Amino acid sequence: MEFHRNYLVLSNLYANFALGNSVPLFERHKYDALHSTLKIHNQLIYKLLISSTPMWLTNSSIGRKVIMSVSGIALILFLTFHGCMNVVALFSAEGYNWICEMLGANWYAVVATCGLAALVALHFIYAIILTLQNKKARGNSKYEVTSKPEKVEWASQNMFVLGAIVILGLLLHLFNFWYNMMFAELVGGDTTFATDGAYWIQETFSNPVYVVLYILWLVALWFHLTHGFWSALQTLGWSGKVWFERWKCIGNVYATVLVLMFVAVVVWFCACHYLCPAC
Ligand code: HEM
Repeated sequence: MEFHRNYLVLSNLYANFALGNSVPLFERHKYDALHSTLKIHNQLIYKLLISSTPMWLTNSSIGRKVIMSVSGIALILFLTFHGCMNVVALFSAEGYNWICEMLGANWYAVVATCGLAALVALHFIYAIILTLQNKKARGNSKYEVTSKPEKVEWASQNMFVLGAIVILGLLLHLFNFWYNMMFAELVGGDTTFATDGAYWIQETFSNPVYVVLYILWLVALWFHLTHGFWSALQTLGWSGKVWFERWKCIGNVYATVLVLMFVAVVVWFCACHYLCPAC
Protein backbone atom coordinates (compact mmCIF):
# COMPACT_ATOMS: atom_id res chain seq x y z
CA MET A 1 0.00 0.00 0.00
CA GLU A 2 2.74 2.36 1.04
CA PHE A 3 4.53 1.54 -2.17
CA HIS A 4 1.48 2.64 -4.24
CA ARG A 5 1.06 5.79 -2.17
CA ASN A 6 4.70 6.68 -2.81
CA TYR A 7 4.14 6.17 -6.50
CA LEU A 8 1.16 8.53 -6.43
CA VAL A 9 3.14 11.21 -4.61
CA LEU A 10 6.01 10.94 -7.04
CA SER A 11 3.80 10.91 -10.14
CA ASN A 12 2.19 14.05 -8.77
CA LEU A 13 5.64 15.60 -8.49
CA TYR A 14 6.57 14.59 -12.07
CA ALA A 15 3.25 15.98 -13.33
CA ASN A 16 4.06 19.27 -11.59
CA PHE A 17 7.45 19.32 -13.27
CA ALA A 18 5.86 18.60 -16.64
CA LEU A 19 3.44 21.50 -16.16
CA GLY A 20 6.33 23.77 -15.28
CA ASN A 21 5.24 24.18 -11.64
CA SER A 22 8.04 24.51 -9.13
CA VAL A 23 8.29 22.45 -5.97
CA PRO A 24 8.83 24.24 -2.67
CA LEU A 25 12.45 23.86 -1.61
CA PHE A 26 11.61 22.50 1.86
CA GLU A 27 9.65 19.62 0.24
CA ARG A 28 12.38 18.48 -2.13
CA HIS A 29 14.28 16.31 0.35
CA LYS A 30 11.02 14.37 0.83
CA TYR A 31 10.80 13.66 -2.89
CA ASP A 32 14.47 12.74 -3.07
CA ALA A 33 14.05 10.17 -0.29
CA LEU A 34 10.94 8.76 -2.00
CA HIS A 35 12.69 8.61 -5.32
CA SER A 36 15.55 6.51 -3.96
CA THR A 37 13.13 4.21 -2.08
CA LEU A 38 11.18 3.59 -5.27
CA LYS A 39 14.40 2.96 -7.15
CA ILE A 40 15.23 0.18 -4.67
CA HIS A 41 11.64 -1.16 -5.02
CA ASN A 42 12.01 -1.19 -8.81
CA GLN A 43 15.32 -2.99 -8.63
CA LEU A 44 13.81 -5.62 -6.31
CA ILE A 45 10.85 -6.15 -8.61
CA TYR A 46 13.22 -6.48 -11.57
CA LYS A 47 15.33 -9.04 -9.70
CA LEU A 48 12.16 -10.95 -8.70
CA LEU A 49 10.95 -11.03 -12.31
CA ILE A 50 14.35 -12.16 -13.57
CA SER A 51 14.67 -14.90 -10.92
CA SER A 52 11.23 -16.31 -11.74
CA THR A 53 12.12 -16.90 -15.40
CA PRO A 54 14.93 -18.92 -17.05
CA MET A 55 16.43 -15.50 -17.96
CA TRP A 56 18.10 -15.36 -14.55
CA LEU A 57 20.58 -17.96 -15.83
CA THR A 58 22.03 -15.51 -18.31
CA ASN A 59 21.08 -12.15 -16.79
CA SER A 60 22.27 -12.50 -13.21
CA SER A 61 25.82 -13.10 -12.06
CA ILE A 62 24.82 -16.13 -9.96
CA GLY A 63 23.01 -17.57 -13.02
CA ARG A 64 26.17 -17.20 -15.08
CA LYS A 65 28.16 -18.91 -12.35
CA VAL A 66 25.64 -21.78 -12.37
CA ILE A 67 26.20 -22.18 -16.13
CA MET A 68 29.98 -22.23 -15.55
CA SER A 69 29.61 -24.79 -12.75
CA VAL A 70 27.25 -27.17 -14.56
CA SER A 71 29.27 -27.07 -17.80
CA GLY A 72 32.50 -27.48 -15.76
CA ILE A 73 31.16 -30.56 -13.97
CA ALA A 74 30.00 -32.04 -17.29
CA LEU A 75 33.52 -31.49 -18.69
CA ILE A 76 35.04 -33.18 -15.62
CA LEU A 77 32.77 -36.16 -16.30
CA PHE A 78 33.98 -36.26 -19.91
CA LEU A 79 37.60 -36.11 -18.69
CA THR A 80 36.91 -38.97 -16.28
CA PHE A 81 35.67 -41.11 -19.17
CA HIS A 82 38.55 -39.99 -21.41
CA GLY A 83 41.16 -40.68 -18.71
CA CYS A 84 39.80 -44.18 -18.01
CA MET A 85 39.67 -44.89 -21.74
CA ASN A 86 43.30 -43.80 -22.17
CA VAL A 87 44.50 -46.01 -19.32
CA VAL A 88 43.37 -49.00 -21.43
CA ALA A 89 46.20 -48.10 -23.87
CA LEU A 90 48.70 -48.93 -21.11
CA PHE A 91 47.50 -52.54 -21.07
CA SER A 92 46.14 -53.36 -24.50
CA ALA A 93 46.58 -51.62 -27.85
CA GLU A 94 43.78 -53.79 -29.33
CA GLY A 95 41.40 -52.88 -26.51
CA TYR A 96 42.20 -49.20 -26.95
CA ASN A 97 41.68 -49.32 -30.70
CA TRP A 98 38.37 -51.11 -30.22
CA ILE A 99 37.19 -48.14 -28.09
CA CYS A 100 38.54 -45.70 -30.68
CA GLU A 101 36.59 -47.54 -33.38
CA MET A 102 33.39 -47.21 -31.32
CA LEU A 103 34.11 -43.49 -30.97
CA GLY A 104 34.92 -43.06 -34.67
CA ALA A 105 32.68 -41.38 -37.23
CA ASN A 106 29.51 -43.11 -35.93
CA TRP A 107 26.46 -40.85 -35.67
CA TYR A 108 26.25 -41.08 -31.87
CA ALA A 109 29.95 -40.24 -31.47
CA VAL A 110 29.59 -37.26 -33.84
CA VAL A 111 26.54 -36.02 -31.87
CA ALA A 112 28.54 -36.41 -28.62
CA THR A 113 31.46 -34.49 -30.13
CA CYS A 114 29.11 -31.62 -31.12
CA GLY A 115 27.66 -31.60 -27.57
CA LEU A 116 31.17 -31.55 -26.14
CA ALA A 117 32.21 -28.67 -28.42
CA ALA A 118 29.10 -26.74 -27.32
CA LEU A 119 29.99 -27.35 -23.65
CA VAL A 120 33.57 -26.15 -24.11
CA ALA A 121 32.34 -23.05 -26.01
CA LEU A 122 29.73 -22.27 -23.31
CA HIS A 123 32.28 -22.71 -20.52
CA PHE A 124 34.82 -20.49 -22.29
CA ILE A 125 32.39 -17.73 -23.32
CA TYR A 126 30.96 -17.47 -19.79
CA ALA A 127 34.48 -17.46 -18.36
CA ILE A 128 35.18 -14.36 -20.48
CA ILE A 129 31.89 -12.71 -19.42
CA LEU A 130 32.49 -13.40 -15.69
CA THR A 131 36.12 -12.26 -15.85
CA LEU A 132 35.13 -8.96 -17.50
CA GLN A 133 32.27 -8.54 -15.00
CA ASN A 134 34.64 -9.11 -12.05
CA LYS A 135 37.15 -6.64 -13.49
CA LYS A 136 34.42 -4.04 -13.87
CA ALA A 137 33.17 -4.63 -10.32
CA ARG A 138 36.70 -4.31 -8.93
CA GLY A 139 37.23 -1.09 -10.86
CA ASN A 140 40.52 0.56 -9.96
CA SER A 141 40.71 -1.13 -6.57
CA LYS A 142 43.50 -3.40 -7.80
CA TYR A 143 45.80 -0.38 -7.78
CA GLU A 144 44.99 0.21 -4.14
CA VAL A 145 45.94 -3.31 -3.08
CA THR A 146 49.53 -3.46 -1.94
CA SER A 147 49.62 -7.06 -0.70
CA LYS A 148 47.62 -10.09 -1.82
CA PRO A 149 45.39 -11.82 0.74
CA GLU A 150 47.21 -14.90 2.03
CA LYS A 151 44.14 -17.17 2.07
CA VAL A 152 43.30 -16.78 -1.62
CA GLU A 153 44.78 -19.65 -3.63
CA TRP A 154 46.98 -19.00 -6.62
CA ALA A 155 44.75 -21.15 -8.86
CA SER A 156 41.61 -19.23 -7.94
CA GLN A 157 43.27 -15.95 -8.93
CA ASN A 158 44.46 -17.34 -12.25
CA MET A 159 41.53 -19.44 -13.40
CA PHE A 160 41.10 -17.57 -16.67
CA VAL A 161 44.79 -17.81 -17.65
CA LEU A 162 44.85 -21.49 -16.68
CA GLY A 163 41.66 -22.09 -18.68
CA ALA A 164 43.17 -20.32 -21.70
CA ILE A 165 46.27 -22.58 -21.48
CA VAL A 166 43.96 -25.63 -21.27
CA ILE A 167 42.11 -24.47 -24.42
CA LEU A 168 45.38 -23.86 -26.32
CA GLY A 169 46.64 -27.32 -25.29
CA LEU A 170 43.31 -28.77 -26.38
CA LEU A 171 43.68 -27.26 -29.85
CA LEU A 172 47.12 -28.88 -30.19
CA HIS A 173 45.71 -32.16 -28.86
CA LEU A 174 42.79 -32.14 -31.32
CA PHE A 175 45.29 -31.54 -34.12
CA ASN A 176 47.40 -34.52 -32.92
CA PHE A 177 44.51 -36.96 -32.49
CA TRP A 178 41.00 -35.93 -33.47
CA TYR A 179 42.09 -34.39 -36.80
CA ASN A 180 43.90 -37.61 -37.82
CA MET A 181 41.11 -39.86 -36.58
CA MET A 182 37.44 -38.76 -36.52
CA PHE A 183 37.95 -35.79 -38.84
CA ALA A 184 39.88 -37.93 -41.38
CA GLU A 185 36.99 -40.43 -41.40
CA LEU A 186 34.37 -37.71 -41.70
CA VAL A 187 35.96 -35.85 -44.61
CA GLY A 188 37.37 -38.98 -46.26
CA GLY A 189 41.08 -38.12 -45.93
CA ASP A 190 43.85 -40.63 -45.22
CA THR A 191 42.04 -43.18 -43.06
CA THR A 192 44.89 -45.74 -42.77
CA PHE A 193 45.28 -45.06 -39.02
CA ALA A 194 41.89 -43.41 -38.43
CA THR A 195 40.88 -45.89 -35.73
CA ASP A 196 44.40 -46.79 -34.60
CA GLY A 197 44.55 -44.62 -31.47
CA ALA A 198 47.51 -46.62 -30.13
CA TYR A 199 49.50 -45.68 -33.24
CA TRP A 200 48.84 -41.94 -32.73
CA ILE A 201 49.78 -42.17 -29.04
CA GLN A 202 53.12 -43.79 -29.95
CA GLU A 203 53.66 -41.29 -32.74
CA THR A 204 52.91 -38.24 -30.58
CA PHE A 205 54.82 -39.20 -27.44
CA SER A 206 57.92 -40.34 -29.28
CA ASN A 207 58.48 -36.62 -29.85
CA PRO A 208 60.03 -35.00 -26.71
CA VAL A 209 58.63 -31.58 -27.62
CA TYR A 210 55.09 -32.93 -27.46
CA VAL A 211 55.91 -34.76 -24.22
CA VAL A 212 57.00 -31.50 -22.55
CA LEU A 213 54.06 -29.54 -23.99
CA TYR A 214 51.56 -32.20 -22.84
CA ILE A 215 53.05 -32.31 -19.31
CA LEU A 216 52.84 -28.50 -19.03
CA TRP A 217 49.28 -28.65 -20.37
CA LEU A 218 48.33 -31.31 -17.80
CA VAL A 219 49.88 -29.29 -14.94
CA ALA A 220 47.74 -26.29 -15.97
CA LEU A 221 44.73 -28.61 -16.17
CA TRP A 222 45.45 -29.88 -12.62
CA PHE A 223 45.52 -26.37 -11.15
CA HIS A 224 42.36 -25.46 -13.07
CA LEU A 225 40.54 -28.57 -11.83
CA THR A 226 41.60 -28.31 -8.18
CA HIS A 227 39.96 -24.91 -7.89
CA GLY A 228 37.12 -25.54 -10.37
CA PHE A 229 35.88 -28.67 -8.61
CA TRP A 230 35.00 -27.21 -5.20
CA SER A 231 34.17 -23.81 -6.62
CA ALA A 232 31.48 -25.42 -8.82
CA LEU A 233 30.01 -27.32 -5.87
CA GLN A 234 30.03 -24.17 -3.75
CA THR A 235 28.14 -22.23 -6.43
CA LEU A 236 25.53 -24.98 -6.61
CA GLY A 237 25.08 -24.72 -2.86
CA TRP A 238 26.52 -28.12 -1.95
CA SER A 239 29.20 -26.73 0.26
CA GLY A 240 28.27 -25.90 3.84
CA LYS A 241 30.79 -24.95 6.53
CA VAL A 242 31.81 -28.54 7.26
CA TRP A 243 31.71 -29.74 3.68
CA PHE A 244 33.74 -26.81 2.36
CA GLU A 245 37.07 -28.31 3.48
CA ARG A 246 35.92 -31.84 2.66
CA TRP A 247 34.99 -30.97 -0.94
CA LYS A 248 38.31 -29.17 -1.31
CA CYS A 249 40.13 -32.32 -0.22
CA ILE A 250 37.96 -34.59 -2.41
CA GLY A 251 38.49 -32.21 -5.35
CA ASN A 252 42.27 -32.25 -4.90
CA VAL A 253 42.38 -36.05 -4.76
CA TYR A 254 40.01 -36.40 -7.74
CA ALA A 255 41.93 -33.89 -9.90
CA THR A 256 45.24 -35.52 -9.00
CA VAL A 257 44.10 -39.07 -9.86
CA LEU A 258 42.47 -37.82 -13.08
CA VAL A 259 45.52 -35.89 -14.27
CA LEU A 260 47.87 -38.74 -13.27
CA MET A 261 45.92 -41.09 -15.58
CA PHE A 262 46.80 -38.81 -18.53
CA VAL A 263 50.39 -38.23 -17.33
CA ALA A 264 50.91 -42.00 -17.01
CA VAL A 265 50.08 -42.49 -20.71
CA VAL A 266 52.42 -39.68 -21.83
CA VAL A 267 55.32 -40.88 -19.63
CA TRP A 268 54.82 -44.58 -20.37
CA PHE A 269 54.79 -44.21 -24.15
CA CYS A 270 57.71 -41.76 -24.08
CA ALA A 271 59.71 -44.15 -21.86
CA CYS A 272 58.83 -47.12 -24.10
CA HIS A 273 60.06 -45.23 -27.16
CA TYR A 274 63.43 -44.28 -25.64
CA LEU A 275 64.14 -47.15 -23.25
CA CYS A 276 62.64 -50.06 -25.15
CA PRO A 277 62.33 -49.20 -28.88
CA ALA A 278 61.66 -52.87 -29.71
CA CYS A 279 58.51 -53.06 -27.51
C1 HEM B 1 47.73 -38.49 -22.61
C2 HEM B 1 46.69 -37.85 -22.76
C3 HEM B 1 45.64 -38.05 -23.84
C4 HEM B 1 45.52 -38.98 -24.83
C5 HEM B 1 46.45 -40.13 -25.15
C6 HEM B 1 44.32 -38.69 -25.56
C7 HEM B 1 43.83 -39.39 -26.64
C8 HEM B 1 42.82 -39.01 -27.45
C9 HEM B 1 42.38 -39.69 -28.64
C10 HEM B 1 42.99 -40.98 -29.19
C11 HEM B 1 41.34 -38.99 -29.16
C12 HEM B 1 40.58 -39.30 -30.47
C13 HEM B 1 39.37 -40.12 -30.21
C14 HEM B 1 38.63 -40.35 -31.49
O1 HEM B 1 38.41 -39.38 -32.25
O2 HEM B 1 38.26 -41.48 -31.75
C15 HEM B 1 41.12 -37.86 -28.31
C16 HEM B 1 40.14 -36.94 -28.50
C17 HEM B 1 39.86 -35.90 -27.65
N1 HEM B 1 40.54 -35.59 -26.49
FE1 HEM B 1 42.12 -36.59 -25.75
N2 HEM B 1 43.72 -37.59 -24.97
C18 HEM B 1 44.50 -37.17 -23.94
C19 HEM B 1 44.26 -36.09 -23.09
C20 HEM B 1 43.20 -35.26 -23.20
C21 HEM B 1 42.92 -34.18 -22.31
C22 HEM B 1 43.77 -33.84 -21.07
C23 HEM B 1 41.81 -33.55 -22.76
C24 HEM B 1 41.08 -32.37 -22.22
C25 HEM B 1 41.60 -31.42 -21.49
C26 HEM B 1 41.37 -34.23 -23.97
C27 HEM B 1 40.30 -33.88 -24.73
C28 HEM B 1 39.95 -34.52 -25.91
C29 HEM B 1 38.81 -34.10 -26.72
C30 HEM B 1 37.86 -32.95 -26.42
C31 HEM B 1 38.76 -34.98 -27.80
C32 HEM B 1 37.74 -35.01 -28.94
C33 HEM B 1 36.64 -35.94 -28.46
C34 HEM B 1 35.61 -36.22 -29.50
O3 HEM B 1 35.93 -36.37 -30.68
O4 HEM B 1 34.45 -36.28 -29.11
N3 HEM B 1 42.25 -35.27 -24.19
N4 HEM B 1 42.01 -37.90 -27.28
